[in-house]
This record gives sequence, structure tokens and C-alpha cells, in this order.
Amino acid sequence: MTSSTPFLRFEGIVAGYGGGDVLKGVDFAVQEHGVTCIVGPNGSGKSTLLKTVSGLLHPRLGQILFKGTPLVGKTPREILKLGIVQVPQQHSLFREMSVEENVVLGAFLVRDRAEVSRRLASVREMFPIVATRAKDKAGSLSGGQQRLVEFARCLMLEPELVVLDEPSMGLDPKTLRTMFDTVKMMNEMGRTVLLVEQNARQALKLSHHGVVLENGQVRLTGTGREVLDNPEIGTLYLGGTFHATPPATNATPMKETD
Ligand SMILES: Nc1ncnc2c1ncn2[C@@H]1O[C@H](COP(=O)(O)OP(=O)(O)OP(=O)(O)O)[C@@H](O)[C@H]1O
Ligand SMILES: [Mg+2]
Repeated sequence: MTSSTPFLRFEGIVAGYGGGDVLKGVDFAVQEHGVTCIVGPNGSGKSTLLKTVSGLLHPRLGQILFKGTPLVGKTPREILKLGIVQVPQQHSLFREMSVEENVVLGAFLVRDRAEVSRRLASVREMFPIVATRAKDKAGSLSGGQQRLVEFARCLMLEPELVVLDEPSMGLDPKTLRTMFDTVKMMNEMGRTVLLVEQNARQALKLSHHGVVLENGQVRLTGTGREVLDNPEIGTLYLGGTFHATPPATNATPMKETD
């Protein structure tokens, strides 16, 4: 990758589910080694955008380049092999399987058993719960614990890009902090992170870059701090749009916890 090749770039992404376009031309770049946070109101297309990265949804128009390689048209498996792993918005562990079995499944593309063991030892160190609750059914863990196990599972592929869709969803304030600390730790260990968050303040504080998505389009980009300090963002939190005077709509307010 040359210095001018962005790590991940969205170019004119138009995508939807057959009933009209949800994403209406999305352009922005994700910097390598950073944390990039996408915020925006409910239904603005954040999860839809992440699905286009992992190949779960094929855009109608546009391209996504990962280190110069086009992702559009590739299967989810091919995209995983390139080093992009997504943790979805809904909990995704197999509840009847043990914590360790779930984590090992994350390395399903790795044939070498010794290598799988090495990676398991490494994620155990990072996430003690993977060791302490190894034999327990994943379904017996709290929501926050399940999130950490999902992170551990995604790291088994040693991804270059970790994509997280609302990792804070359903977590209490204390678990929330642990989760955000873990995101920071994953980044400090060399993973580039692209995340969507409704706990916008906390997420933008730890993010190097922020992107505001509204109604399927990018309305603002900047450093995490710039997005956080932008007065228009306040309007967005209150459920309005980027108009000087708030329109009389029933836009859904974003939840804010700090
Ligand atoms: N599988 C689907 N089939 C049809 N429409 C969908 C599907 N998933 C999402 N949508 C619609 O696409 C739009 C954007 O949804 P999306 O889930 O991307 O929003 P979001 O920004 O992630 O919202 P939230 O903050 O609630 O997670 C919404 O109008 C939603 O109803
Ligand atoms: Mg979503």
C-alpha cells in the first residue's frame, strides 16, 4: 500500500433492500491504525453501511476499496480472508455452546491447530473471561460479557480491520466503560477500528475520526473532537436535522448516556 492509498475508502455507495435506497452516495475514508466512529440518528443507514463492508449487502452503485482492493462483489468469506471482521449489532454467540467453543469458531479459516492454540492463548490474556468462563455456556453470560467474548472471537482471525456495530447496545454504564476500554486496547494493539455508536459522546472521545451519517449521506467528517464540538451535532442529538431552525418532524432522538 502506498502512502496515497487509503486504508478503506467508500466511493459513492448507494445501497438498500429493494424498497428504495437507504444509502444515497456515501463517500469517506478510514485511516489505518485509527478508530473511526460513525454516528447518526436511528435509521440513518449506519448498520446498512457496515453490511456493505462485510459483504452482507451488495451496493447498487459505488465501490469500497480496502488497501486498493475492491470489496464490492466479494463474498463475506472472501472479505474475512482479506482481514476484515465484523461484530454485528445483535448478540451473535451460539448460546448453547461454551465460551471457548465460540471463541475458537472465530478462527474457522485457520487450518493450523497449533496456530489456533497460539491465538486462543493470546485472546485469553486479553480477555480473562475467555479463560475463567471457558466451559460455561455462552448464553449464561451477561450482555456485557457476551460482547467481550464476541470481541475475543473476532480477534481469532487477527483482523486488520475490526468493524463494530453498536457494541454498547444494552450495556450498563460500568460495562460500557470496560467495553470502550477494550475497543481502545484493540486499537492500541494495532487493529484499525470502524465502529457505529449511539453513545456518541463516549465513542467520539476515544475516536481519532468521526463521521456523521444522516439520511443515508455523510453530513460531517472530522476528528472525533471536531465532530463532538460541532454545534450541529447538538441539534442532531435533540432529534433535529442540520437546519438553522428545527423542522417540525418526528425524527427519532439519539440516546445519550453521559
Ligand atoms: N433487512 C432490511 N430490510 C429492509 N429494510 C431494512 C433492513 N434493514 C434495515 N432496513 C431499513 O433501512 C433503513 C436504515 O436502517 P439501518 O439499520 O441501516 O439504520 P441504523 O442507522 O443502523 O439505525 P439504528 O441506529 O436503529 O441501528 C431503515 O429505514 C430500516 O428500516
Ligand atoms: Mg444499526
